[in-house]
Amino acid sequence: MSKIGASARSQSSAGPEGGADRFLPFTKPSLEPSDIAAVVEVLQSGWITSGAKVKQLEKAFTEQTGAKHAVAVTSATAGMHLVLHALGVGPGDEVITPSLTWVSTVNLICLSGATPVFVDVDRHTLMTTAAIIEKAITPKTKMIIPVHYAGAPLDLDPIRALERAHGIPVIEDAAHALGSGYMNEAVGKSGTAIFSLQAIKNVTTAEGGVICTQDDAFAERLRRLRFHGLGADSFDRHTNSRLPNAEVLEPGYKYNLPDMNACLALGQLDRLQENNRKRAAFAKKYRDAFANIDAITPLGLPDYPHVHAWHIYIVRVEIDQLSIDRDEFMAALKELGIGTGLHFRAAHQHKYYRESLVGDYATLTNTNWNSDRLVTIPLFPDMTDADVDRVIAAVSAVTTKYAA
Ligand SMILES: Cc1ncc(COP(=O)(O)O)c(C=O)c1O
Repeated sequence: MSKIGASARSQSSAGPEGGADRFLPFTKPSLEPSDIAAVVEVLQSGWITSGAKVKQLEKAFTEQTGAKHAVAVTSATAGMHLVLHALGVGPGDEVITPSLTWVSTVNLICLSGATPVFVDVDRHTLMTTAAIIEKAITPKTKMIIPVHYAGAPLDLDPIRALERAHGIPVIEDAAHALGSGYMNEAVGKSGTAIFSLQAIKNVTTAEGGVICTQDDAFAERLRRLRFHGLGADSFDRHTNSRLPNAEVLEPGYKYNLPDMNACLALGQLDRLQENNRKRAAFAKKYRDAFANIDAITPLGLPDYPHVHAWHIYIVRVEIDQLSIDRDEFMAALKELGIGTGLHFRAAHQHKYYRESLVGDYATLTNTNWNSDRLVTIPLFPDMTDADVDRVIAAVSAVTTKYAA
Protein backbone atom coordinates (compact mmCIF):
# COMPACT_ATOMS: atom_id res chain seq x y z
CA MET A 1 0.00 0.00 0.00
CA SER A 2 1.23 3.49 -0.78
CA LYS A 3 2.31 5.95 1.88
CA ILE A 4 -0.73 8.04 1.05
CA GLY A 5 -3.09 5.15 1.71
CA ALA A 6 -1.31 4.20 4.92
CA SER A 7 -1.42 7.69 6.40
CA ALA A 8 -5.07 8.20 5.62
CA ARG A 9 -6.34 4.77 6.69
CA SER A 10 -6.62 5.53 10.38
CA GLN A 11 -8.61 8.72 9.78
CA SER A 12 -11.09 7.46 7.22
CA SER A 13 -14.63 6.90 8.36
CA ALA A 14 -15.30 4.61 5.45
CA GLY A 15 -18.18 2.20 5.85
CA PRO A 16 -17.99 -1.54 6.15
CA GLU A 17 -16.53 -1.77 2.63
CA GLY A 18 -13.13 -0.81 3.94
CA GLY A 19 -10.69 1.89 4.91
CA ALA A 20 -8.64 4.42 3.07
CA ASP A 21 -7.49 2.04 0.38
CA ARG A 22 -11.05 1.49 -0.77
CA PHE A 23 -11.93 3.20 -4.01
CA LEU A 24 -13.36 6.68 -3.45
CA PRO A 25 -15.69 7.53 -6.35
CA PHE A 26 -15.90 11.12 -7.58
CA THR A 27 -19.54 11.16 -6.57
CA LYS A 28 -22.22 9.04 -4.97
CA PRO A 29 -25.96 9.62 -4.44
CA SER A 30 -26.94 10.62 -0.92
CA LEU A 31 -29.84 8.28 -0.16
CA GLU A 32 -31.49 7.57 3.18
CA PRO A 33 -33.48 4.46 4.17
CA SER A 34 -36.60 6.65 4.00
CA ASP A 35 -35.90 7.34 0.29
CA ILE A 36 -35.68 3.62 -0.38
CA ALA A 37 -38.85 3.00 1.64
CA ALA A 38 -40.63 5.61 -0.51
CA VAL A 39 -39.77 3.63 -3.65
CA VAL A 40 -40.95 0.38 -2.07
CA GLU A 41 -44.20 2.07 -1.09
CA VAL A 42 -44.82 3.14 -4.68
CA LEU A 43 -43.99 -0.34 -5.95
CA GLN A 44 -46.58 -1.77 -3.58
CA SER A 45 -49.19 0.88 -4.28
CA GLY A 46 -50.61 -0.47 -7.52
CA TRP A 47 -49.60 2.69 -9.48
CA ILE A 48 -45.93 2.83 -10.46
CA THR A 49 -45.81 5.09 -13.51
CA SER A 50 -46.46 8.87 -13.68
CA GLY A 51 -48.99 9.94 -11.08
CA ALA A 52 -49.30 11.55 -7.66
CA LYS A 53 -45.55 11.37 -6.92
CA VAL A 54 -44.71 13.21 -10.13
CA LYS A 55 -47.19 15.90 -9.20
CA GLN A 56 -45.58 16.12 -5.74
CA LEU A 57 -42.12 16.36 -7.31
CA GLU A 58 -43.25 19.13 -9.64
CA LYS A 59 -44.78 21.04 -6.72
CA ALA A 60 -41.59 20.61 -4.69
CA PHE A 61 -39.59 21.95 -7.64
CA THR A 62 -41.75 25.06 -7.92
CA GLU A 63 -41.23 25.62 -4.18
CA GLN A 64 -37.48 25.05 -4.42
CA THR A 65 -36.92 27.31 -7.42
CA GLY A 66 -39.85 29.73 -7.25
CA ALA A 67 -40.74 28.79 -10.84
CA LYS A 68 -44.37 29.03 -11.87
CA HIS A 69 -44.35 25.63 -13.60
CA ALA A 70 -42.22 22.51 -13.32
CA VAL A 71 -42.62 19.72 -15.86
CA ALA A 72 -40.99 16.41 -14.95
CA VAL A 73 -39.55 14.26 -17.73
CA THR A 74 -37.35 11.19 -18.06
CA SER A 75 -34.08 13.16 -18.41
CA ALA A 76 -32.77 16.66 -18.99
CA THR A 77 -31.96 15.44 -22.49
CA ALA A 78 -35.64 14.56 -23.00
CA GLY A 79 -36.57 18.00 -21.65
CA MET A 80 -34.21 19.70 -24.08
CA HIS A 81 -35.64 17.61 -26.91
CA LEU A 82 -39.18 18.74 -26.06
CA VAL A 83 -38.12 22.38 -25.87
CA LEU A 84 -36.24 22.28 -29.19
CA HIS A 85 -39.29 20.65 -30.77
CA ALA A 86 -41.78 23.03 -29.16
CA LEU A 87 -39.82 26.07 -30.31
CA GLY A 88 -39.61 24.72 -33.85
CA VAL A 89 -35.82 24.35 -34.13
CA GLY A 90 -35.04 22.60 -37.40
CA PRO A 91 -33.08 22.60 -40.67
CA GLY A 92 -31.57 25.95 -41.57
CA ASP A 93 -31.54 27.17 -37.94
CA GLU A 94 -28.49 27.86 -35.80
CA VAL A 95 -28.37 27.20 -32.07
CA ILE A 96 -25.68 28.89 -30.00
CA THR A 97 -24.17 26.81 -27.21
CA PRO A 98 -20.72 26.33 -25.70
CA SER A 99 -18.66 23.41 -26.98
CA LEU A 100 -17.72 22.85 -23.33
CA THR A 101 -20.99 21.16 -22.44
CA TRP A 102 -22.41 17.68 -22.23
CA VAL A 103 -22.82 16.21 -25.71
CA SER A 104 -26.57 15.62 -25.26
CA THR A 105 -27.33 19.22 -26.25
CA VAL A 106 -25.15 19.13 -29.34
CA ASN A 107 -26.54 15.74 -30.39
CA LEU A 108 -30.10 17.04 -30.14
CA ILE A 109 -29.35 20.19 -32.13
CA CYS A 110 -27.84 18.06 -34.89
CA LEU A 111 -30.65 15.52 -34.80
CA SER A 112 -33.17 18.35 -35.19
CA GLY A 113 -31.43 19.27 -38.45
CA ALA A 114 -30.15 22.58 -37.06
CA THR A 115 -26.48 23.61 -36.78
CA PRO A 116 -24.75 24.03 -33.43
CA VAL A 117 -22.72 27.24 -33.25
CA PHE A 118 -20.08 26.84 -30.58
CA VAL A 119 -19.08 29.76 -28.41
CA ASP A 120 -16.13 30.05 -26.07
CA VAL A 121 -16.33 30.28 -22.28
CA ASP A 122 -14.68 32.28 -19.54
CA ARG A 123 -11.31 30.68 -18.85
CA HIS A 124 -11.92 30.29 -15.12
CA THR A 125 -15.66 29.82 -14.59
CA LEU A 126 -16.17 27.72 -17.76
CA MET A 127 -19.35 29.68 -18.44
CA THR A 128 -20.14 31.65 -21.54
CA THR A 129 -21.13 35.31 -21.36
CA ALA A 130 -23.48 37.70 -23.14
CA ALA A 131 -20.51 39.45 -24.80
CA ILE A 132 -19.27 36.16 -26.27
CA ILE A 133 -22.76 35.03 -27.33
CA GLU A 134 -23.61 38.33 -29.00
CA LYS A 135 -20.76 37.97 -31.50
CA ALA A 136 -22.18 34.61 -32.66
CA ILE A 137 -25.74 35.83 -33.32
CA THR A 138 -26.80 35.78 -36.99
CA PRO A 139 -30.21 36.08 -38.69
CA LYS A 140 -30.37 32.26 -38.51
CA THR A 141 -30.00 32.05 -34.71
CA LYS A 142 -33.09 30.34 -33.35
CA MET A 143 -32.07 29.58 -29.76
CA ILE A 144 -29.31 30.16 -27.21
CA ILE A 145 -28.42 27.40 -24.74
CA PRO A 146 -25.90 28.62 -22.14
CA VAL A 147 -24.80 26.27 -19.34
CA HIS A 148 -24.74 26.87 -15.58
CA TYR A 149 -21.48 25.07 -14.79
CA ALA A 150 -20.60 22.76 -11.91
CA GLY A 151 -23.15 24.38 -9.59
CA ALA A 152 -22.28 28.04 -10.28
CA PRO A 153 -24.88 30.22 -12.03
CA LEU A 154 -24.45 32.02 -15.33
CA ASP A 155 -24.40 35.82 -15.37
CA LEU A 156 -28.03 35.81 -16.47
CA ASP A 157 -29.00 39.51 -16.54
CA PRO A 158 -26.90 40.44 -19.60
CA ILE A 159 -27.87 37.19 -21.32
CA ARG A 160 -31.55 37.96 -20.76
CA ALA A 161 -30.99 41.47 -22.08
CA LEU A 162 -29.69 39.85 -25.30
CA GLU A 163 -32.76 37.61 -25.39
CA ARG A 164 -35.02 40.66 -25.23
CA ALA A 165 -32.98 42.73 -27.68
CA HIS A 166 -32.80 40.02 -30.36
CA GLY A 167 -36.03 38.13 -29.62
CA ILE A 168 -34.11 34.84 -29.46
CA PRO A 169 -35.18 32.43 -26.69
CA VAL A 170 -32.58 31.57 -24.06
CA ILE A 171 -32.95 28.06 -22.65
CA GLU A 172 -30.76 27.59 -19.58
CA ASP A 173 -29.01 24.26 -19.26
CA ALA A 174 -29.44 23.96 -15.49
CA ALA A 175 -28.47 20.28 -15.32
CA HIS A 176 -25.89 21.15 -12.62
CA ALA A 177 -27.76 23.98 -10.96
CA LEU A 178 -30.32 22.64 -8.50
CA GLY A 179 -29.89 24.87 -5.46
CA SER A 180 -27.83 27.48 -7.35
CA GLY A 181 -28.78 31.11 -6.97
CA TYR A 182 -28.12 34.17 -9.14
CA MET A 183 -28.37 37.61 -7.53
CA ASN A 184 -31.40 37.27 -5.27
CA GLU A 185 -33.15 34.36 -6.87
CA ALA A 186 -32.86 30.64 -7.41
CA VAL A 187 -31.92 29.39 -10.85
CA GLY A 188 -35.21 28.36 -12.46
CA LYS A 189 -37.30 31.19 -11.01
CA SER A 190 -37.19 33.24 -14.21
CA GLY A 191 -36.99 32.18 -17.82
CA THR A 192 -36.82 28.54 -18.92
CA ALA A 193 -34.32 26.24 -17.21
CA ILE A 194 -33.83 22.49 -17.59
CA PHE A 195 -32.58 20.55 -14.56
CA SER A 196 -31.22 17.01 -14.54
CA LEU A 197 -32.03 14.36 -11.92
CA GLN A 198 -29.57 11.84 -13.39
CA ALA A 199 -27.63 9.62 -10.99
CA ILE A 200 -24.73 11.97 -10.15
CA LYS A 201 -26.83 15.11 -9.62
CA ASN A 202 -27.39 16.81 -6.24
CA VAL A 203 -30.89 15.31 -6.26
CA THR A 204 -31.46 12.18 -8.29
CA THR A 205 -34.25 9.95 -9.53
CA ALA A 206 -31.63 7.66 -11.17
CA GLU A 207 -32.63 9.23 -14.48
CA GLY A 208 -34.94 12.20 -14.75
CA GLY A 209 -35.23 15.88 -15.53
CA VAL A 210 -37.43 18.91 -14.85
CA ILE A 211 -38.21 21.86 -17.09
CA CYS A 212 -39.02 25.05 -15.19
CA THR A 213 -40.90 27.77 -17.02
CA GLN A 214 -43.03 30.78 -16.19
CA ASP A 215 -45.18 30.52 -19.29
CA ASP A 216 -48.60 28.86 -18.80
CA ALA A 217 -49.17 27.91 -22.43
CA PHE A 218 -45.61 26.64 -22.88
CA ALA A 219 -45.89 24.45 -19.76
CA GLU A 220 -49.17 23.00 -20.99
CA ARG A 221 -47.64 22.24 -24.36
CA LEU A 222 -44.60 20.54 -22.76
CA ARG A 223 -46.92 18.39 -20.62
CA ARG A 224 -48.76 17.34 -23.75
CA LEU A 225 -45.58 16.71 -25.76
CA ARG A 226 -44.08 14.55 -22.99
CA PHE A 227 -47.02 12.12 -23.32
CA HIS A 228 -47.79 11.39 -26.97
CA GLY A 229 -49.33 14.80 -27.56
CA LEU A 230 -52.48 13.65 -25.78
CA GLY A 231 -54.82 16.11 -24.13
CA ALA A 232 -54.77 14.08 -20.87
CA ASP A 233 -52.17 11.74 -19.41
CA SER A 234 -52.88 8.22 -18.19
CA PHE A 235 -52.98 9.27 -14.51
CA ASP A 236 -55.46 11.98 -15.31
CA ARG A 237 -57.65 9.38 -16.99
CA HIS A 238 -57.12 6.94 -14.11
CA THR A 239 -57.86 9.33 -11.26
CA ASN A 240 -60.63 11.26 -12.97
CA SER A 241 -62.21 8.07 -14.26
CA ARG A 242 -62.12 9.42 -17.76
CA LEU A 243 -62.64 7.03 -20.60
CA PRO A 244 -59.34 6.25 -22.31
CA ASN A 245 -60.29 8.28 -25.33
CA ALA A 246 -58.11 11.38 -24.99
CA GLU A 247 -57.15 12.71 -28.41
CA VAL A 248 -53.77 13.43 -29.89
CA LEU A 249 -53.68 17.19 -30.24
CA GLU A 250 -50.26 17.09 -31.92
CA PRO A 251 -47.65 14.32 -32.34
CA GLY A 252 -45.72 13.96 -29.09
CA TYR A 253 -43.02 11.87 -27.42
CA LYS A 254 -43.02 9.42 -24.49
CA TYR A 255 -40.93 11.20 -21.88
CA ASN A 256 -43.13 10.97 -18.75
CA LEU A 257 -41.23 10.26 -15.52
CA PRO A 258 -42.56 7.26 -13.54
CA ASP A 259 -43.69 7.70 -9.92
CA MET A 260 -41.20 5.04 -8.79
CA ASN A 261 -38.44 7.42 -9.90
CA ALA A 262 -40.09 10.68 -8.85
CA CYS A 263 -40.65 9.54 -5.25
CA LEU A 264 -36.90 9.00 -4.76
CA ALA A 265 -36.29 12.75 -5.08
CA LEU A 266 -38.83 14.01 -2.53
CA GLY A 267 -36.77 13.37 0.61
CA GLN A 268 -33.58 14.49 -1.17
CA LEU A 269 -35.21 17.81 -2.02
CA ASP A 270 -35.98 18.34 1.67
CA ARG A 271 -32.29 17.76 2.44
CA LEU A 272 -30.93 19.77 -0.51
CA GLN A 273 -29.87 22.89 1.40
CA GLU A 274 -28.19 20.87 4.11
CA ASN A 275 -26.39 18.65 1.60
CA ASN A 276 -25.29 21.60 -0.51
CA ARG A 277 -23.86 23.19 2.66
CA LYS A 278 -21.80 20.03 3.23
CA ARG A 279 -20.61 20.18 -0.38
CA ALA A 280 -19.62 23.84 0.10
CA ALA A 281 -17.60 23.04 3.23
CA PHE A 282 -15.64 20.30 1.43
CA ALA A 283 -15.13 22.63 -1.54
CA LYS A 284 -13.64 25.27 0.74
CA LYS A 285 -11.25 22.73 2.20
CA TYR A 286 -10.09 21.81 -1.31
CA ARG A 287 -9.74 25.44 -2.30
CA ASP A 288 -7.60 26.27 0.73
CA ALA A 289 -5.37 23.23 0.14
CA PHE A 290 -4.91 23.81 -3.59
CA ALA A 291 -3.79 27.38 -2.99
CA ASN A 292 -0.51 25.69 -1.98
CA ILE A 293 -0.23 23.36 -4.98
CA ASP A 294 0.99 25.27 -8.05
CA ALA A 295 0.10 22.56 -10.55
CA ILE A 296 -3.58 22.58 -9.54
CA THR A 297 -5.94 25.45 -10.32
CA PRO A 298 -9.54 25.19 -9.11
CA LEU A 299 -12.26 26.83 -11.17
CA GLY A 300 -12.74 30.53 -10.59
CA LEU A 301 -15.87 31.71 -8.78
CA PRO A 302 -18.32 34.17 -10.38
CA ASP A 303 -17.73 37.78 -9.30
CA TYR A 304 -21.48 38.54 -9.03
CA PRO A 305 -23.69 37.65 -6.07
CA HIS A 306 -24.51 33.97 -6.26
CA VAL A 307 -25.22 30.78 -4.38
CA HIS A 308 -23.05 27.87 -5.51
CA ALA A 309 -24.63 24.40 -5.49
CA TRP A 310 -21.20 22.69 -5.66
CA HIS A 311 -22.53 19.98 -7.93
CA ILE A 312 -19.02 18.83 -8.85
CA TYR A 313 -15.51 19.98 -7.90
CA ILE A 314 -13.39 20.70 -10.95
CA VAL A 315 -9.70 21.55 -11.07
CA ARG A 316 -7.37 22.29 -13.94
CA VAL A 317 -4.15 20.28 -14.00
CA GLU A 318 -1.39 22.65 -15.09
CA ILE A 319 0.15 20.14 -17.49
CA ASP A 320 2.96 22.53 -18.45
CA GLN A 321 4.32 22.09 -14.93
CA LEU A 322 4.10 18.28 -15.00
CA SER A 323 5.71 15.46 -16.94
CA ILE A 324 2.31 13.78 -17.40
CA ASP A 325 -0.83 14.85 -19.20
CA ARG A 326 -4.33 15.10 -17.75
CA ASP A 327 -5.34 11.53 -18.61
CA GLU A 328 -2.17 10.20 -16.93
CA PHE A 329 -2.91 12.40 -13.93
CA MET A 330 -6.35 10.78 -13.66
CA ALA A 331 -4.80 7.32 -13.97
CA ALA A 332 -2.27 8.15 -11.23
CA LEU A 333 -5.09 9.20 -8.89
CA LYS A 334 -6.97 6.03 -9.71
CA GLU A 335 -3.94 3.99 -8.66
CA LEU A 336 -4.23 5.71 -5.29
CA GLY A 337 -7.90 4.75 -5.08
CA ILE A 338 -9.28 8.16 -6.03
CA GLY A 339 -11.99 8.30 -8.68
CA THR A 340 -12.18 11.21 -11.08
CA GLY A 341 -14.52 12.48 -13.77
CA LEU A 342 -14.14 14.69 -16.83
CA HIS A 343 -16.67 17.53 -17.24
CA PHE A 344 -16.20 17.97 -20.13
CA ARG A 345 -14.16 17.17 -23.15
CA ALA A 346 -15.15 19.88 -25.65
CA ALA A 347 -17.89 18.62 -27.97
CA HIS A 348 -16.05 19.72 -31.12
CA GLN A 349 -13.20 17.39 -30.18
CA HIS A 350 -15.40 14.27 -30.28
CA LYS A 351 -14.83 12.10 -33.36
CA TYR A 352 -18.23 12.65 -34.97
CA TYR A 353 -18.16 16.42 -34.51
CA ARG A 354 -14.49 16.69 -35.47
CA GLU A 355 -15.32 15.03 -38.76
CA SER A 356 -18.74 16.48 -39.51
CA LEU A 357 -18.85 20.07 -38.30
CA VAL A 358 -17.16 22.93 -40.07
CA GLY A 359 -15.86 25.78 -37.93
CA ASP A 360 -12.77 27.59 -36.74
CA TYR A 361 -12.53 25.90 -33.38
CA ALA A 362 -9.02 27.22 -32.76
CA THR A 363 -10.76 30.45 -31.78
CA LEU A 364 -12.34 28.64 -28.82
CA THR A 365 -9.14 29.37 -26.90
CA ASN A 366 -10.43 28.96 -23.35
CA THR A 367 -12.49 25.90 -24.26
CA ASN A 368 -9.50 24.13 -25.83
CA TRP A 369 -7.16 25.11 -22.98
CA ASN A 370 -9.55 23.78 -20.36
CA SER A 371 -10.61 20.72 -22.32
CA ASP A 372 -7.04 19.36 -22.00
CA ARG A 373 -6.76 20.15 -18.29
CA LEU A 374 -10.10 19.54 -16.55
CA VAL A 375 -10.45 16.91 -13.87
CA THR A 376 -13.39 16.39 -11.51
CA ILE A 377 -12.34 15.12 -8.09
CA PRO A 378 -14.55 13.56 -5.38
CA LEU A 379 -17.29 15.74 -3.90
CA PHE A 380 -20.50 14.41 -2.39
CA PRO A 381 -22.34 14.99 0.88
CA ASP A 382 -21.64 11.59 2.41
CA MET A 383 -17.88 11.81 2.10
CA THR A 384 -15.91 12.67 5.23
CA ASP A 385 -13.25 15.23 6.11
CA ALA A 386 -10.82 12.31 6.12
CA ASP A 387 -11.84 11.48 2.54
CA VAL A 388 -11.16 15.08 1.51
CA ASP A 389 -7.76 14.95 3.23
CA ARG A 390 -7.03 11.74 1.40
CA VAL A 391 -7.84 13.31 -1.98
CA ILE A 392 -5.67 16.34 -1.18
CA ALA A 393 -2.78 14.07 -0.12
CA ALA A 394 -3.12 12.03 -3.31
CA VAL A 395 -3.22 15.13 -5.55
CA SER A 396 -0.21 16.51 -3.74
CA ALA A 397 1.71 13.23 -4.07
CA VAL A 398 1.01 12.95 -7.81
CA THR A 399 1.93 16.55 -8.58
CA THR A 400 5.17 16.18 -6.57
CA LYS A 401 6.09 12.86 -8.15
CA TYR A 402 5.49 14.10 -11.69
CA ALA A 403 6.76 17.69 -11.36
CA ALA A 404 8.37 18.71 -14.67
C1 LIG B 1 -24.42 20.19 -18.65
C2 LIG B 1 -25.35 19.05 -18.87
N1 LIG B 1 -26.40 19.20 -19.68
C3 LIG B 1 -27.29 18.22 -19.91
C4 LIG B 1 -27.14 16.99 -19.31
C5 LIG B 1 -28.13 15.91 -19.63
O1 LIG B 1 -28.78 15.46 -18.48
P1 LIG B 1 -29.53 14.06 -18.46
O2 LIG B 1 -28.50 13.01 -18.24
O3 LIG B 1 -30.52 14.16 -17.35
O4 LIG B 1 -30.20 13.91 -19.78
C6 LIG B 1 -26.07 16.77 -18.45
C7 LIG B 1 -25.93 15.46 -17.81
O5 LIG B 1 -25.12 15.18 -17.01
C8 LIG B 1 -25.15 17.81 -18.22
O6 LIG B 1 -24.10 17.65 -17.41
